[in-house]
Amino acid sequence: MKKLINYNILIAQKIGKIVEIDSEELEKYIEIPPQSEMGDFAFPCFKLAKQLKKSPIVIAKEIKEKIETDEYIEKIEEKSGYLNFYINTNKLAEEVFKEIDKKKEEYGKSDIGNGKTIIVEYSSPNIAKPFHIGHLRTTLIGNSLYKVYKFLGYNTIGINHLGDYGTQFGKMIEGYKLWGNEYNLEEDPINKMMEMYVRINELCKKDEKVLENCRENFRLLENGDKYCTELWERFKEISLKEFDKIYDILDVKFDSLKGEAFYQDKIQEVVDILEKKGKLIESEGAKIVNLEDEGIDTPCIIQKTDGSSIYATRDLAAILYRARTYDFDKCLYVVAYEQNLHFKQVFAVAKNIVDEKYYNGLIHVSYGMVALPTGKMSTRLGNVVKIEDLINETINKAKEIISEKNQNLENKDEVAKKVGIAAIVFNTLSTTTNRDQIFDWDTALNFQGETGPYIQYTYVRTKSVSEKLDKVPDLADIDFSLFKEDTAIKTIKTLYRFGEYIKTTADKNEPAILARYLIELAQNYNNFYNENKLLVDDEKLRNTRVYLSNSVGTVLKTGAELLGIKMPNKM
Ligand code: ARG
Repeated sequence: MKKLINYNILIAQKIGKIVEIDSEELEKYIEIPPQSEMGDFAFPCFKLAKQLKKSPIVIAKEIKEKIETDEYIEKIEEKSGYLNFYINTNKLAEEVFKEIDKKKEEYGKSDIGNGKTIIVEYSSPNIAKPFHIGHLRTTLIGNSLYKVYKFLGYNTIGINHLGDYGTQFGKMIEGYKLWGNEYNLEEDPINKMMEMYVRINELCKKDEKVLENCRENFRLLENGDKYCTELWERFKEISLKEFDKIYDILDVKFDSLKGEAFYQDKIQEVVDILEKKGKLIESEGAKIVNLEDEGIDTPCIIQKTDGSSIYATRDLAAILYRARTYDFDKCLYVVAYEQNLHFKQVFAVAKNIVDEKYYNGLIHVSYGMVALPTGKMSTRLGNVVKIEDLINETINKAKEIISEKNQNLENKDEVAKKVGIAAIVFNTLSTTTNRDQIFDWDTALNFQGETGPYIQYTYVRTKSVSEKLDKVPDLADIDFSLFKEDTAIKTIKTLYRFGEYIKTTADKNEPAILARYLIELAQNYNNFYNENKLLVDDEKLRNTRVYLSNSVGTVLKTGAELLGIKMPNKM
């Protein structure tokens, strides 16, 4: 099947033939000039100076002598050691629109992931504890990466590694034993469980005997005691019910909900392997792995003094399990930067447990801190923000805005939900992952800013343009040579790069790349829209412009969906 033209390959081949160097090597050197006056692509000849034993200026001049233009490249210039390439924009338009026409919503899709398996682990909140704003960030980043990898043809597995195990459950059980009848867990489960947890912790500090009871409860839980297990399951069930409310609104799904508890009976194998390899050292009664050789000062604790396992051990067991079950090529952990050391340690210990293929594929996608919401809404929400309230509040606010803008809008609630969520999702994802982030709802909901609603608004604009015509034009109705305006050409060039941006998003595990791309596309299109009448009398020109408009809509929609944003048809 014919693929979308790749200029880098084309240019590299042209140069390769002249200088007799492998074109794949040359391809890597091709740049996009900072200003469009310098061409669409540039080749820096200094990269070849050593190899060819000539100055970049001489190389550029010599290549320029021999290189030929063609239907794709209409002009080639040589300037201070660079070769600048100017593409034929009519041909580009033809290429791009033929491809969009053929692929429609699948434009940009690829099969580069063919056969490879990627695990994306995200969200992973803790049972009986609040789903906090950091969990929202991992949920949205992971959800987007999951979709992006799928779109690129990877076999993708989404795992919610629930924090459903640990000594704290011994305390929870004790708290429930003591005061269970005082708390109606069905009513406001997470908060009630939190209250109970805080209270039992207080008591433990004062009373050593209570603490001992808690430890005993955890031991019983580990050994499958009926009462403790049932109670723990109940905590888990009511917590999940709460988390599901958030996942449902956001439409986030997982392929697996295997949390920490699932690995409980699998940690012995980890301990055995490490023991056999002579890696386990006794230290003050605990068993640890020394990681100094790996450049990590803090050792990784594998087993506590009382023999119970810990967080890191369960992660190691999960790596072993996932390697066997999924034979993964990569396993991404979308987890806050506070756990940088934890993952460094776990990955280093994993070298002793799984093959190279697997431990090389372990990647911590570390995200920065999230500040609590600022702006007008924050005062109403208070200091301890419940994520569900935050989402609903944003949706309400979105409803106010859209109702003001368009009083006759049908399905206001449905549209408000899409817009409110887009505001949150885009605000979250457009911040580079490793940076700290501030939630400012007034900014996030600004229809004219660099926001989710702005992308939706632009999409709706493309829709309403074509709705004004009796028939949506197809490829046969348009004339590629009619794209003359700078703004049109810039838009087409942006459309052309969609697939590249998706790939970079995956390469860098960075949804912000896709988010910014969509803003750029929307802005370029809006510039074109504002400067030109689309529905002109001339039929050919009208069809051509509407076709462009429609294609922008298609790509915005596909791209937004990869971020986890849904498009309304009207707003
Ligand atoms: N439950 C943890 C938390 O909320 C995050 C789990 C991250 N994933 C992992 N495999 N350790 O902090």
